[in-house]
Amino acid sequence: MTSESAEERARDDYVLVLNGPNLNLLGTREPGVYGSTTLAEIVADLATTACGADPPLRIEHVQSNHEGVLVDAIQTLGPSAVGIIINPAALTHYSIALRDALAAVGTPTIEVHLSNIHAREEFRHHSVVAPVVLGQIAGLGPDGYRLALHHVIARRGLSAEVKR
Ligand code: DQA
Repeated sequence: MTSESAEERARDDYVLVLNGPNLNLLGTREPGVYGSTTLAEIVADLATTACGADPPLRIEHVQSNHEGVLVDAIQTLGPSAVGIIINPAALTHYSIALRDALAAVGTPTIEVHLSNIHAREEFRHHSVVAPVVLGQIAGLGPDGYRLALHHVIARRGLSAEVKR
């Protein structure tokens, strides 16, 4: 058995959840496209699931309408996170800065979209962050966040097995 350093234990502590521009309006924003669940409800649901993981995890959540705030969050909170779940919203389609930040920290990341971006306007079909993430979940509404978190938790279990 290897003894874990305090730094390694802290690393296993939280999942970073990032939400981009206009997602603060979920619940009232185009409910026909994005549903009626609010962002607070989505995050509360993730926190409950994270708490129930063994060992428990925390959710660090940052929503911002500003690209730089999200880049800062990736730089400061990303490196120690067990995983990142990001819905970059409109930034998905053009933010090289967000893509570069995710690539720089290298933390396993899952991209989530409430709507199926591939079935919508052509400008939404392309994601500039997709090449630097583990995978993308689109079109499943709030379930997408839930599934992403389950995957992060399952991966953490796998990496613990490998360590043993
Ligand atoms: C979105 C899809 C984006 O194209 C859009 O700009 C958003 C939300 C989604 O969750 O479906 O703001 O990321």
